[in-house]
Amino acid sequence: EKGGFETFMLKEIHEQADAVAETIADRTVRTDGVDLAEEASFDEALLHGVRRIIVVACGTSFHAGLIGRYAIEEWARVPVELEVASEYRYRNPIVGEGDLVIGITQSGETADTLAAMRLARERGATVLAITNVMGSQATRDADGVLYTRAGLEIGVAATKTFICQVAVMYLLGLRLAELRGTLDVATRTRLMTELKRVPHEIDALLSGLDLEAIARQHYQREFFLYLGRHVGLPVAMEGALKLKEISYIPTDAYAAGEMKHGPIALLDESTPVVCIATDSPLLDKVVSNVQEVRARGAHVIAIASEGNIEIGEHAEQVIRIPAMDWMLQPLLAVIPLQLLAYRIARLRGLNVDQPRNLAKTVTVE
Ligand code: M6R
Repeated sequence: EKGGFETFMLKEIHEQADAVAETIADRTVRTDGVDLAEEASFDEALLHGVRRIIVVACGTSFHAGLIGRYAIEEWARVPVELEVASEYRYRNPIVGEGDLVIGITQSGETADTLAAMRLARERGATVLAITNVMGSQATRDADGVLYTRAGLEIGVAATKTFICQVAVMYLLGLRLAELRGTLDVATRTRLMTELKRVPHEIDALLSGLDLEAIARQHYQREFFLYLGRHVGLPVAMEGALKLKEISYIPTDAYAAGEMKHGPIALLDESTPVVCIATDSPLLDKVVSNVQEVRARGAHVIAIASEGNIEIGEHAEQVIRIPAMDWMLQPLLAVIPLQLLAYRIARLRGLNVDQPRNLAKTVTVE
């Protein structure tokens, strides 16, 4: 049942190209835009007149929402707020008509996310669920559902479902942009072409990725710091969560620009710092942050695209991902982080499929 892989998590990491392909397939038939209107579980009228989007989610699903925020705001110019569901539900939120509340939940059963969705719906908001499980409670508590089509995920650490949640947020962003006329046809067409290339690039990336040496060098460390900016920040957060949940190594993830406001004090020669240095208009700023980290003697592991030559001069190790539109790079950049966490946890002799204290579905608050 593990298809020749040593664990479910490793199998699921390797299923990511297919999972994305499945998730975007019939939604990206047109060359210049996304189609969601045909979906039985989703009426496109839900997107009309939306003034604000609020995403409620937990854990990895929250990180997918964060990535979606950058894309939706950039492409469709709709304001997007992100809320940890367990906080949102208890703070008497200001929400109602004109708001689209999106609950992102792989299982569709996370108690806090469901409660946040219900509360928003009671107050008059339109509620959309993004979930991987047909017939789950989230599908019943929402006005519409967009499914990720990742297939069953067994490993407690979310991998392929995360990638598919991010892909659905991109689809939504592109569709909203078309409806609102905020992206021209040429830009939409280019982004569609890039998005359709993602499964192929995931395969290419996975087939050449060997993180054993880096993992061996660092698996006994006591702390890892992850840094990123803009859309690289939620990638850093997701990488840090993956490592802590399966290897039990303390991690922190920070906006690179915030580093000098505190976390830089943590750094010494023994600290591995994983920097998301993917392409973006902010890359220069990320590179200066890398230099600041190096100046404290810490060990920089950078995630960068193939075209980025300069980063090699500043980081001890560079893990390369294929070049692609910068907004879409999280779909590739998270993969080495999943695998790094995986290799480290295995070297520490841990059960990655069922980490201690964690459950795949969290049905209690
Ligand atoms: O089923 P959900 O997407 O609602 O689950 C949310 C979190 O419990 C989940 O993402 C958790 O953080 C994972 N263990 C992360 O790998």
